Amino acid sequence: MAESLYIPTDADKASKYEAILPQIEALITGESDLTANLANISAVLRESFGFFWVGFYLVKDDQLVLGPFQGPIACTRINLGKGVCGTAWKEDKTQLVPDVDAFPGHIACSSASKSEIVVPFSKNGKVAGVLDVDSDQLADFDEIDQEYLERLMQILEKTL
Ligand code: SME
Repeated sequence: MAESLYIPTDADKASKYEAILPQIEALITGESDLTANLANISAVLRESFGFFWVGFYLVKDDQLVLGPFQGPIACTRINLGKGVCGTAWKEDKTQLVPDVDAFPGHIACSSASKSEIVVPFSKNGKVAGVLDVDSDQLADFDEIDQEYLERLMQILEKTL
């Protein structure tokens, strides 16, 4: 396993994603432990982009439960359809939220969080969890983040 990452510093966002996705794929392919893989994915995303909060919630019975993450402490359980994460789970669809205060039912784990993107991932055709990325800046995520983070979840799905 590679122990260091190559992250281009002066590259645009898409180029950074292009550089890190194959490295994440190399990091998690061949490792069957989900916790280990989610922890490393969180670390790579945080180190590459400096996101305020990045991590996972996992479907356990009828709730999303906090999984590996990087950043400040967070809410531990989210119900189906609640907040941005619960909506991504219910709809099995990425939620791109430029202003969290304008999202009905947003769950404020931290008042510093201003914008958010949540991408679900599936196992055997059912949502198994979500990747949640928060920023302390408004409108910090766009279609580029959506495209690459969805691609990243497809890479993760291959290990499940
Ligand atoms: N804001 C999320 C809850 C998770 S925290 O941001 C880490 C939501 O509304 O689902």
